[in-house]
Formats: sequence, structure tokens, C-alpha cells
Amino acid sequence: MQDTKIAIIGGGNLGTAILKGLVYTKQYTKEEILVSEKKKHRINYLNENGFQVISDNLQAVKSANTIIISVKPQQITELLEEIKPELSGNSKILLTTVTGFTFSQYEKIIGQVPIFRIMPNTAIEIGESMTCISHIHSTKEQEDKVIALLEKLGKTMIIDEDQLASATVLGACGIGFALRFIRSMSQGGIEIGFGSEVSQYISAQTIKGAAELILQSGNHPEREIDKVTTPQGITISGLNEMEHQGFSSAVIKGLLASYNKLELVRNKEKK
Ligand SMILES: NC(=O)c1ccc[n+]([C@@H]2O[C@H](COP(=O)([O-])OP(=O)(O)OC[C@H]3O[C@@H](n4cnc5c(N)ncnc54)[C@H](OP(=O)(O)O)[C@@H]3O)[C@@H](O)[C@H]2O)c1
Repeated sequence: MQDTKIAIIGGGNLGTAILKGLVYTKQYTKEEILVSEKKKHRINYLNENGFQVISDNLQAVKSANTIIISVKPQQITELLEEIKPELSGNSKILLTTVTGFTFSQYEKIIGQVPIFRIMPNTAIEIGESMTCISHIHSTKEQEDKVIALLEKLGKTMIIDEDQLASATVLGACGIGFALRFIRSMSQGGIEIGFGSEVSQYISAQTIKGAAELILQSGNHPEREIDKVTTPQGITISGLNEMEHQGFSSAVIKGLLASYNKLELVRNKEKK
């Protein structure tokens, strides 16, 4: 059964996307979500958009059984120390988007409580996230509850904790990579004759269609590419030129650069 209230600590970029998604997917009304946020301009923004905001993390945790933490990694330790008194017992479920903070680090501060490390992306705002999930100390009932909540916000996948860094890069950073690709297509579209808005619209819908083709058929992308590339044709000329310029290699190297950077940051934080 879904709780009547949910609390989000940290109303930044992702926290706000999550709370908008909860309302967009009609799982909660704005009145049923309590956001705890400290930044003045974020509080103003959230208030102006009709959300209930407080600057009291303990109160937020008290008010709900499901708590979503969405603060920066360097802020999580202090936050957990603060809310620890309200987390004893196993009745509250903690979901956390915080990158790189491991279950063992949580356990050292708050003990063995149900924790779901979730890695969504900002498309959660419109119920189209890819959310990878790892969990610990949870009952089957709590797992079902969290998955039901997140499934309404997009697609979900349960993964091992040691794959969460990869999920961060592929899914969470991935939306940035995909958006840059849409922008590149739009820019090309302008050069060949469309206004910027039309070019962006055609590009975005084309990318959406391509993604849906793969998701619905399960086909390898090259199988779908074969259907649009004819001998001596136009599409293959463009595709081959992109590859000559290092397209696939650039994307793969970009992903690896993000992954390596994440590892570097994590190692720094461990010291
Ligand atoms: N953005 C994404 O697409 C994405 C995707 C997956 C995972 N993540 C992870 O999710 C987390 C949040 O990311 P974000 O991009 O939303 O960061 P963000 O925009 O910086 O949001 C964090 C917000 O939480 C506030 N905050 C910090 N400590 C707080 C506390 N103790 N109580 C109440 N509010 C507090 C921050 O305010 P102050 O800055 O004033 O402290 C800030 O407004 C990060 O750990 C990130 O790695 C992000």
C-alpha cells in the first residue's frame, strides 16, 4: 500500500524532477509531498510552484514513511547524522539518489535500516526515467512498494551495488549525452534548411522514434540501421562520414571519461 505522505530531502535539480514526476504521474498531490531544502532560491522556486517546503530535515523524516534523499555526496554524512534519531526501527524506507555513497557507509552511520540506492535521470519529471536500483535490509513488501513507485516514473532495473557507478554514467549522465546528440542534429538541420524550432522538433521526435523501435523490438540497432541504408545511398554516406570523424569512438570515450572521473571523485572522498 502506498503511504499518504512522502518526503524529499534536497530540492535541487534531481529532487525537483522527482517531486514533479510524482505529481505528473498522479501518485501524490503537491499537498502530500514535503520537501526539505535549505537554499533560499530553491525554496522560493518550489513555493512559487505550489510545493510544500520546510527547512527541517528531522520534521520531514517524521512526516513520512518513505523518504527520498537527493543531496550532493559531500552533504550526505552530515544529513544522516542529523536524521538518524528518526530512522531507528525498520518502518521507514530510505531511498537515496546520492552518487558514490555505499551501503556500508550508510550502515556505519544509521545502522541496518532499509535503504534503496536509486539512480534515476531527470526524465523522471515526465515519468520517463531509467532508474537502476540496489537495496539492502528491505522486506519483500518494501521492495514491491518502492518498485511500484519507481515503475510509474519510468523503467526500472534491479542491479548489484557495484554496478551503480556504471548506471550513473549510462543512465544518469546518459541523458546529457543524448541531449547533446539531439542538439547536434538540430544544428545540422538548421544548416540544411529548417528554422531552429522545427529542426529541434524533427530531431527530438526522430530520436524518440529510434529509441522506441529498439525498446519495443529488442533488435540490435544495426538491424534497424540496415533498413535505412541502401547501397550507394544517402544515409550510409552520412553515417560513414560520422564514423570517419570518430562518432562511435567519441561516445565510448566520453562514457569512459565520465566513469573514470566518477572513480577519481570516489577515491578522493574515501581518503
Ligand atoms: N542531477 C541528476 O541528473 C542526478 C542523477 C542521478 C543522481 N544524482 C545525484 O543526486 C544527488 C542530487 O543531485 P542534484 O543534481 O539534484 O544536486 P543539487 O541540484 O545540488 O541538489 C541538492 C540540493 O539539496 C540541498 N541540500 C543539501 N543538503 C541539504 C540538507 N541537509 N537538507 C536539505 N537540503 C539540502 C542543496 O542545497 P545547498 O547546495 O545549499 O546545500 C541543493 O539545493 C547528487 O548526489 C547526485 O550525484 C543526480
